[in-house]
Amino acid sequence: MQWKIYLRRIFYGGIGFFLIYFIIFRRRSLRIFLTESNISELINQTSLNNTKLHRIPRIIHQTWKTHDVPIHWNETVQSVRQYNANQFEYRLWTDNDMHRFVRQEYPNLYENTFLKYSLEIQRVDAFRYFILYHFGGIYIDMDNGCRKSFDSLINVLEILDSQSNHLAAFPCTSPIGISNGFMITTKGHPLFKILISRLPLFNHNYLIDYLTVMFSAGPSYLSINEFYFDQSFYQSKVRIIDENVYSSIYTWHTPGNSWHGRDAEIILRIYHTWRNSYPTILYRFLLIIGKQISIGNDFVILK
Ligand SMILES: *[C@@H]1O[C@H](CO)[C@@H](O)[C@H](O)[C@H]1NC(C)=O
Ligand SMILES: *[C@@H]1O[C@H](CO)[C@@H](O)[C@H](O)[C@H]1NC(C)=O
Ligand SMILES: *[C@@H]1O[C@H](CO)[C@@H](O)[C@H](O)[C@H]1NC(C)=O
Ligand SMILES: *[C@@H]1O[C@H](CO)[C@@H](O)[C@H](O)[C@H]1NC(C)=O
Repeated sequence: MQWKIYLRRIFYGGIGFFLIYFIIFRRRSLRIFLTESNISELINQTSLNNTKLHRIPRIIHQTWKTHDVPIHWNETVQSVRQYNANQFEYRLWTDNDMHRFVRQEYPNLYENTFLKYSLEIQRVDAFRYFILYHFGGIYIDMDNGCRKSFDSLINVLEILDSQSNHLAAFPCTSPIGISNGFMITTKGHPLFKILISRLPLFNHNYLIDYLTVMFSAGPSYLSINEFYFDQSFYQSKVRIIDENVYSSIYTWHTPGNSWHGRDAEIILRIYHTWRNSYPTILYRFLLIIGKQISIGNDFVILK
């Protein structure tokens, strides 16, 4: 009657898997998109000039170390400023502004998390959530250029979800995540409140710099928290901007300076870190191997 036991195992295994799937790996809300057809359909309605619908502040935020934008980003930054000069206020946040702002507004987070980050890029990533929560508007990375004013994009978002108090939108990145290189939101959006409050929870060393950056405050951190964000519970919307809408209609990348450029930079840094901390890495590696072996032994004993 061996096969009965197997069947039972498969049955309970299936139920367990199902439960795990529904409790852990289930999105809390459906992904809703902002598509090209939405844009072309609704773009003319922006002339209705319904200021009552306006909920997203017309502010563009960018961050850089100082007020001197590097020459290789002059073109992209200029395009963002010029196309949006009439409708938007522009704010460039320097490193000094960043530290002053977080220290003043979130003294605890500043001391216990923000200053503890080992990489500057983690602070820069985290800071985006702070300013967008406080002011709302658009954040855009400096290596992104602009093809036309973001005004129509924001108008279409406001028309699509005319009933919601809070809206946010992020471009999708293949295959499942969203990007933190471009973000639109109303002021005080609950998702951004969550993004700020969970920074300490996710602040770990994930063994290699690349993962540490991605998961402590970067794109993976954003994607995970969006995945578990319950839109109906918080009565607020999150839209995923179709890749076409984002990169063909509204923006462009400077070649070689895209997210992949940052990837390459991080990988180089990992290489240097690893080379310098070779004994630590070796120790961690042995620890992992050791754990595997001991688990293996337990298994043998149980059998
Ligand atoms: C937006 O686009 C999607 C897919 O193209 C479509 O299903 C939806 O009805 C559109 N929404 C509006 C309000 O036009
Ligand atoms: C939107 O307006 C433009 C010019 O005002 C016009 O050429 C275009 O056909 C309009 N599109 C729709 C879908 O009505
Ligand atoms: C939009 O509304 C404002 C105030 O109601 C008005 O001054 C302005 O002329 C309107 N613009 C257009 C394009 O209708
Ligand atoms: C940056 O671009 C603007 C406008 O396109 C131009 O006036 C300015 O001289 C440029 N600056 C540099 C440093 O190239």
